[in-house]
Amino acid sequence: MEFTKIDGLKISAEVKAEVKEEVGRLAEIGVVPCLAVVLVGDDPASKIYVANKQKACEAVGIKSLSYILPEDTEQDELDELIESLNESGEVNGILVQLPLPKHLDEDRVIKLISPKKDVDCFHPYNVGRLWTGDPFFLPCTPAGVIELIKRSGFEIEGKDCVVIGRSNIVGKPVSALLQAENGTVTMCHSKTKNLGEICKRADIIVVATGHPNTLTADMVKNGAVVIDVGINRKPDGKLCGDADYENISKKGVAMTPVPGGVGPMTIAMLMKNCVKAVSGE
Ligand code: GUN
Repeated sequence: MEFTKIDGLKISAEVKAEVKEEVGRLAEIGVVPCLAVVLVGDDPASKIYVANKQKACEAVGIKSLSYILPEDTEQDELDELIESLNESGEVNGILVQLPLPKHLDEDRVIKLISPKKDVDCFHPYNVGRLWTGDPFFLPCTPAGVIELIKRSGFEIEGKDCVVIGRSNIVGKPVSALLQAENGTVTMCHSKTKNLGEICKRADIIVVATGHPNTLTADMVKNGAVVIDVGINRKPDGKLCGDADYENISKKGVAMTPVPGGVGPMTIAMLMKNCVKAVSGE
């Protein structure tokens, strides 16, 4: 096969158009989904992510409320805000942008958000439902990975899938979703031996380590599908993924670029979850 760029901007636009239609149907019965976005501190990347999420809300007709808190916010104040959002009749979804400043307890915050409003799908209740094959929300980035593969016309059933990275946000839930699609999944991580050989056998590779050049051209067979979840900043200020796009793209593979691959899909899937939060089971 020839090299194919998997276009996350195009596919995310398709998903958002579908969400917009759904939001339109809800508007006809007087319902407007509402997402509360909480940002603590001034991490520049987080500010950009939050702004992009709010832009997407506006584009599809979802109301967004923003709560921008100073770096020195205390745990009690954050807890109180989340509890009030949990109780709010207007708010359907709650998103606390991670990472939080170091003095705040992320795990506590994740568990405090009502599972019914947990549009990130980070709460252990929703993670448990995902792993038992009865998901309510789907985790945004992992669900975006699956959509990229399927909407590009690739089958997952019966395929050898390799996931590199075992984070709670990406690696683990991606493996759950690939298995739900009947893929045969191998999980690899920093202690894996023979990573190159394992990857070389794979039909589908998802790389999410946070390290540039984790996946190089010699590790990828012709015909493979490569989904790069990484977003790293190079010394020259440009963004790059966890895979060596320049050299892998010389092969006969299908692959996502960075930027313009998984990133926009995360946001599109978040929009889907906001609608899901309103519509229920
Ligand atoms: N930080 C990096 N990715 C995410 C995400 O998907 N959701 C939230 N809340 N924070 C993040």
